[in-house]
Amino acid sequence: MSALFEHLKSRIQAEGPLSLDTYMAVALGHPEHGYYRTGDPFGGAGDFVTAPEISQMFGELLGLWSMVCWRQLGAPASFNLVELGPGRGTLMADSMRLVSNVLPFYNALHVHLVETSPLLRKYQRAALAAIDCPIHWHEQLVQVPNGPFVLLANEFLDALPIRQFAGKAGVWRERLIDLTTAGDALEWTSRALCATDRLDVPPALAAGAENQIYEVCPAAHAIIREISRMIMMQKGVALFIDYGYVLQTGGDTFQAVKNHKYADPLLHPGEADLTAHVDFESVSRLAGLAGVRVSGPVTQGTFLRNLGIGQRAKSLKKAASTEQKRDIETALERLTGDDTMGRLFKVIALSHPDLPEPEGFWSNEK
Ligand SMILES: C[S@@+](CC[C@H](N)C(=O)[O-])C[C@H]1O[C@@H](n2cnc3c(N)ncnc32)[C@H](O)[C@@H]1O
Repeated sequence: MSALFEHLKSRIQAEGPLSLDTYMAVALGHPEHGYYRTGDPFGGAGDFVTAPEISQMFGELLGLWSMVCWRQLGAPASFNLVELGPGRGTLMADSMRLVSNVLPFYNALHVHLVETSPLLRKYQRAALAAIDCPIHWHEQLVQVPNGPFVLLANEFLDALPIRQFAGKAGVWRERLIDLTTAGDALEWTSRALCATDRLDVPPALAAGAENQIYEVCPAAHAIIREISRMIMMQKGVALFIDYGYVLQTGGDTFQAVKNHKYADPLLHPGEADLTAHVDFESVSRLAGLAGVRVSGPVTQGTFLRNLGIGQRAKSLKKAASTEQKRDIETALERLTGDDTMGRLFKVIALSHPDLPEPEGFWSNEK
């Protein structure tokens, strides 16, 4: 069992079974043993590969997209480019490399990275060492100073802790994590709901609550409310890219990945990545309630093609060796293909309703 297991064990012995969001928050963010605090999870030698790590084209296109948003915001002389959960800093480094020649944009930039992991901040510092515009790190989004902004978040929402509820014969119970009787492993249990839980199950799920799982991500709701408030007060645009669903139809999406393979999410706390699919329906609804314009979600494939990833790949291939050409084609397919990330990953933008519609969302997807 992992080092974190002993911590979870004493916590459960003292407090009783833990809600799933508590378990996820500890497993990912515990200051000493949390998954994002102890090692580099990205790339071939890590546990998973994210889009910016697949190809420079991803960060470059998001850099261009941010610049277009800045122009739509009226090209302010000072402007915040915010990234939530920047991982190794690759997306921002690739974005900056591409836009650094556009001086009116580059000179206006203040980069703000919201990152909780001190270890990943170190990687981000190294990745951005050559960038000479001001870069600031924050623990939380609320610490980013006021001002017009573009916010980017790739595979950020899926890392936020969820709660899970199981429905059987019309009765919902919260799924919790307990110790086995022998005290040597973790196991699932559940608790009855009480009046203060105020569970808001979507009607489509409530009607057929037969062995159903309903997931809620309170941390994502809080962040979408906060970003919506910022958009309305300060004028800004936010872009989220993540895997998830467009309609809340229920189901268990909580998963662990270790060494590029799925694992039992209760077996390796602190040593496996834990995620859940993003509920884009809630993101749209919460932003819409705040008066924010919602564009998408569209698939990542559609979004990147709309931004010109095909042309970018072509121009990179011009100066590439045969092997590099093959790598560029493979990366293009991984980022945009229907059987790879292109369809599973979705892109949604939230923007001030007075601004023009953000680029990239034209779609004839069904
Ligand atoms: C799956 S990684 C994605 C990394 C990067 N965006 C990429 O695409 O390669 C999730 C990132 O979010 C960070 N993170 C997780 N929870 C966070 C939180 N509550 N606040 C800020 N960053 C967080 C992690 O440390 C990590 O950098």
